[in-house]
Amino acid sequence: MFEPGRIIVTGGAGFIGSNFVRWVVENTDTHVTVLDKLTYAGNLENIAGLPEERVTFALGDVCDEGLLEKLVPEVDAVVHFAAESHNDNSIADSQPFLRTNVGGTYQLLETCRRHGRRLHHVSTDEVYGDLALDDPTRFTEETPYRPSSPYSSTKAASDMLVRAWVRTYGVCATISNCSNNYGPYQHVEKFIPRQITNLIDGARPKLYGDGLNVRDWIHTEDHSSAVWAILTGGRPGETYLVGADGERSNISVLREILKAFGMAEEVFDWVRDRPGHDRRYAIDPTKLRTELGWVPRHTNFAEGLAATIQWYRDNEAWWRPVKKATEAKYAEQGR
Ligand code: NAD
Ligand code: DAU
Repeated sequence: MFEPGRIIVTGGAGFIGSNFVRWVVENTDTHVTVLDKLTYAGNLENIAGLPEERVTFALGDVCDEGLLEKLVPEVDAVVHFAAESHNDNSIADSQPFLRTNVGGTYQLLETCRRHGRRLHHVSTDEVYGDLALDDPTRFTEETPYRPSSPYSSTKAASDMLVRAWVRTYGVCATISNCSNNYGPYQHVEKFIPRQITNLIDGARPKLYGDGLNVRDWIHTEDHSSAVWAILTGGRPGETYLVGADGERSNISVLREILKAFGMAEEVFDWVRDRPGHDRRYAIDPTKLRTELGWVPRHTNFAEGLAATIQWYRDNEAWWRPVKKATEAKYAEQGR
């Protein structure tokens, strides 16, 4: 068992990273340094109120070699969440995705190599491309890489760098590929928060294409416990898929949200599909469950969704400042 006393969490002011930092503070004694550039997706509010003796914030870029040289030797491990994360943005402008997702991972690998530090790389199931709706299989650690979008291809590239640095230089690293997260602090550009905040605003939700695309939803808290299990118990050099048997079509998720707002199920707009839109993702988490004994806690999607809706109702001050600009960007894309 690896028991880190101090870790860096890159991207710890974003959605999943900040939920992970909170999980670490609540469930362990480990000290966390959050390294985050505070892009449009990062928000210090996400980690506000955490005890100062447990969490330190460092403003900076994962591509900044000099900064990594100062921070990395001081910790036992780096948990790497920082990324450009939104598919639609990557279609509009892929350059920041190349820079942060590929270049940033490269800099971290090099720094961890120089100082013999452990790295856990957080990645996505999108590296495996998509499955047909009627395909009985799910993604496993052996599924070949077949990314479709600029975003997922940069994540696939970053995974490949990690694998190469493990094999060539013996860097002690693990990788996790997780499915779609939901929960508090998710940016309103993403599917579930966008629809919830539209409805709070009296605007109509927007559904891409035919709405039959399937995503495999997992509560972000379950992703956090999985990342911790892999960081502390995973075998170096190994990849673990993270998912909680949460396959749902987009239209069925939207109908659940509409129902929670007491709205009729047809009160939404069909909008232009996303180019290259992946049809279905589905994770087989057997390796994580059997090898590390991980089990998800949030297995009731309706309950998790209701709590998430309530969080957005209670935290309008958190999302209001970015809602208008986010919708203006979508309007430009016809979505
Ligand atoms: P997010 O966009 O909400 O947060 C990303 C964070 O990274 C932000 O705080 C941002 O400021 C920071 N960041 C961006 N570029 C940076 C840079 N160059 N240097 C330092 N910090 C930088 O993303 P998220 O949804 O929380 O995703 C986090 C990670 O999890 C990503 O690596 C993503 O690929 C992966 N992932 C996400 C999901 C999902 O459903 N959202 C699922 C599987 C994996
Ligand atoms: O699978 C893991 C991935 O999940 C992560 O790697 C990504 O970082 C994360 O953003 C997410 O990617 P998706 O593209 O699946 O998530 P998004 O929330 O953008 O969209 C979810 C689905 O909903 C997708 O099929 C597109 C659709 N959609 C999205 C929006 C924003 C709509 O129908 N309407 C919308 O308004």
